[in-house]
Amino acid sequence: MGHLPQSISEKLRLIEKIVTAPVYFLIGYASGHLLYTSTVEGVIDLWALNLETGEKIRLTQGGVHGVAKPRPQSSYVVYTRDESRGRELQRVYVTELKSRESFTFEALEPRRIVGLAFDGSEIALTAAGEGVELWLLNLSGTGERLYSTNCLMYVTDFRDGLVVGQGVLKGNPKSYEIFTFDIDAREFRVITPKEGSVNKGPVTQRKEVLFASNAPGREKLLLFKYSSGELSEAMFKHADLEKYEPTEFIDYGWTDDGNLWAIGKKRGRSKLFLDGREVALPEGLLTRATFTDSKVYVSYTSLKTPGRILEVDSMGRYRVLLGEELPSDVASCIGDSYVADVVSFDGLRIPTFIVESKNSPKPGPTIVYVHGGPWSEVADRWDLFIASLAACGYHVVAPNFRGSTGYGEEFRALDIGDPGGGDLKDVVKAAEWAREQGVASKVAIMGYSYGGFMTFLATVKEPDAFDAGVAGAGITDWEEMYVLSDAFYRTFIDILFADKRGLMGDRSAIHFVDRLKVPLCIIHPQNDSRTPLSPVLKYIWKLMERGKTFEVHIVPDAGHMIVRLEDALKLVMPAVIFLEKYLAKGATLSAT
Ligand code: 4NP
Repeated sequence: MGHLPQSISEKLRLIEKIVTAPVYFLIGYASGHLLYTSTVEGVIDLWALNLETGEKIRLTQGGVHGVAKPRPQSSYVVYTRDESRGRELQRVYVTELKSRESFTFEALEPRRIVGLAFDGSEIALTAAGEGVELWLLNLSGTGERLYSTNCLMYVTDFRDGLVVGQGVLKGNPKSYEIFTFDIDAREFRVITPKEGSVNKGPVTQRKEVLFASNAPGREKLLLFKYSSGELSEAMFKHADLEKYEPTEFIDYGWTDDGNLWAIGKKRGRSKLFLDGREVALPEGLLTRATFTDSKVYVSYTSLKTPGRILEVDSMGRYRVLLGEELPSDVASCIGDSYVADVVSFDGLRIPTFIVESKNSPKPGPTIVYVHGGPWSEVADRWDLFIASLAACGYHVVAPNFRGSTGYGEEFRALDIGDPGGGDLKDVVKAAEWAREQGVASKVAIMGYSYGGFMTFLATVKEPDAFDAGVAGAGITDWEEMYVLSDAFYRTFIDILFADKRGLMGDRSAIHFVDRLKVPLCIIHPQNDSRTPLSPVLKYIWKLMERGKTFEVHIVPDAGHMIVRLEDALKLVMPAVIFLEKYLAKGATLSAT
């Protein structure tokens, strides 16, 4: 393909195809049904596939928020729905798969719910309230608050009388501890194998707790016996997992016959292991697995593959159970992708994903794409922004700046107490690297959420590093955002800043707006309750007073988590129309 010029309408058509390409994400297995979420009807909804008849049942209409891992024996499915047009005040719902009847819990008014688990008859959850609260709901409709804390914590599993979860429970912003709540004894306990270690994602059965921990040096799976207090490293019969040396474990558990299985991840890709032996599956990112007595179901994605669900039989053969191919005209625009280490200002290596566009020469217009989180990462996984930009003629350079997950805990913790400091310099280095390598001509910075924060801050603190910025759901003023946050996000910000409140001003673009030199495209959900709109409106007013070049798109009736594809279009399309003028065509500014 010879870098044919694309018209803006061609670009918008490609974006529409990318955004509406359905994604499927595995939830689990319940009573003869495979549960999954999908955007196939234009909204992220919860579905059940009857594995015997092949019937697909749509369980929610208009969006689902969180879903508890279902129990194989139970025909009840537990999930949350937003009741506040995106403000993330959610209610818990239960649907019975045979009767398809649903009900909700009046005992718990709509709240931010940040962890949800179901043992087959009762529900444990964590929700923002006066502090962060642990609740127990019974299917008969009653509810009870079990525990409350000012620490960041969330439930991850609940079975055989034990609720488990993780949290920053010892006041060290760099460590995560496991907690257990014993339902019979009404006892809350904090468990850590080693002071200061990071312990994540506990799952439980028969009063044993399996979790990922960096206490042994690198991340390993540990088993904790609740009754005896005995702690040991999980052992596997086969050696493939040990040889692979994953940096992270992203899903794991027990099969019905008591074997351990695990998904290990390294450099943005992952592999599935059963009792330590690799299950051969395509290269990319596996994010979740469910073992039934005869089959394994796995969520799979890559930078070029929208989320799909694979079915693996007892012989290890797999097929695509749910998922569609990308339209060929879209697939043919997305070029090579690879990972490079960008050396940052202090010598730290920043693993960076590069996705080239086939619709652009090299060097060509390039986007430094900054992921959200900040404790998240760009991986070999389908991403609407990255795919849309590459299809529309932009090379994408996506750094996993310090603080990103996936490269060990030491790396992840490097942004704690310094958000918008070292990580911002990493992002600037990625732009320099892209120019030096002959990838980039002009470079814009773009990101959503924490990536929107970095876009606002980079364009004022490093005013010469980028030619334009696109800030989605960004942060312009940490102090105001803190006041507007609920108990959960206040603890989150305290951890991120390591309680250095005095640093918030220095890391807020609102105090440096005079330095802005490049055009800015601001896109923000109206009802966002994580990164609220009002500080951004104040920023816009300052841009206005100073005559800066900017545009603003507010997505009505939407929250931080985009559930409707029409809203996703409202994020991506304005960005591409803006970039067309200020990056691809290279318009110059009249005045700043
Ligand atoms: P995210 O959004 O990037 O989507 O995770 C964020 C929301 C809140 C904060 C950071 C990121 N915060 O620090 O409060």
